[in-house]
Amino acid sequence: MAAKLIDGKVVSAKIRGEIREAAEAFKAERKRAPGLAVVRVGEDPASIVYVRNKLRACEEVGFYSESYELPEDTTQEELIALVERLNNDDKIHGILVQLPLPKHIDEARVVAAVAPEKDVDAFGKLDAGHLCLDEGNVLPCTPAGIMEMLKHYDIMVSGKECVVVGRSNIVGRPMAALLLAADGTVTIAHSRTPDLGAVTRRADILVAAVGRAGLITGDMVKPGAAVIDVGMNRNAEGKLCGDVDFDSVKEVAGYITPVPGGVGPMTITMLMRNTLYAAKTSAK
Ligand code: GUN
Repeated sequence: MAAKLIDGKVVSAKIRGEIREAAEAFKAERKRAPGLAVVRVGEDPASIVYVRNKLRACEEVGFYSESYELPEDTTQEELIALVERLNNDDKIHGILVQLPLPKHIDEARVVAAVAPEKDVDAFGKLDAGHLCLDEGNVLPCTPAGIMEMLKHYDIMVSGKECVVVGRSNIVGRPMAALLLAADGTVTIAHSRTPDLGAVTRRADILVAAVGRAGLITGDMVKPGAAVIDVGMNRNAEGKLCGDVDFDSVKEVAGYITPVPGGVGPMTITMLMRNTLYAAKTSAK
């Protein structure tokens, strides 16, 4: 294997240690813990795992947490009523509604219902606008976690060719904004990009965030590139795997993130960081 492994668990452990200490200081001063409410609707298997890991992380860093597991047939009005109740709950500094939501619920309406000061996913219009203007304090968790990993491994972004594959509001778009803010030369490729390999082969830093198992193969990667895999898929044998074909890419890349144990833990660590920020900046 030529590539060096980027270990999200190691970077996470270091940052979670710092968050835990800051949470202790917060508790001593404010007589309460930073509080996060996590809301899941329905039984999406990936969401069940993500939410469980988010609640465990709260325990690990000493946060107060509340978990709401609502049935699949919850109405949009019921969900928004819960979000509004949490908006007005002083114990709760951050609200996370796990996506995707069932088809009958308008995600944009629910995201918009979260009070901007409690929007620890940074999915709302205010945080998205700040991000585009390079003025963000609270950043979307997955892209922010990727930037922390690059920093930890001394992978310079400034002046580098960066290719992001995928244009979702959760990862692709905010990832491109953060790489641009760090002075990368950024290209966003997506499902309508004709010759994907020709684009990805330009990348010094390649971020794959499309949700297609094994989409990025070794022949699509520039030798020595840093390859970041955001995918979380199951292959034909039911094994967890990313968007990157690890076995062929690891022979070509300079750095590579594993799945699991790469981006996943970092996303959750950034959620803890955003919740701490929301708590510290709240009047309550
Ligand atoms: N679904 C996949 N990733 C995320 C995330 O970071 N936050 C939320 N709320 N839902 C997600």
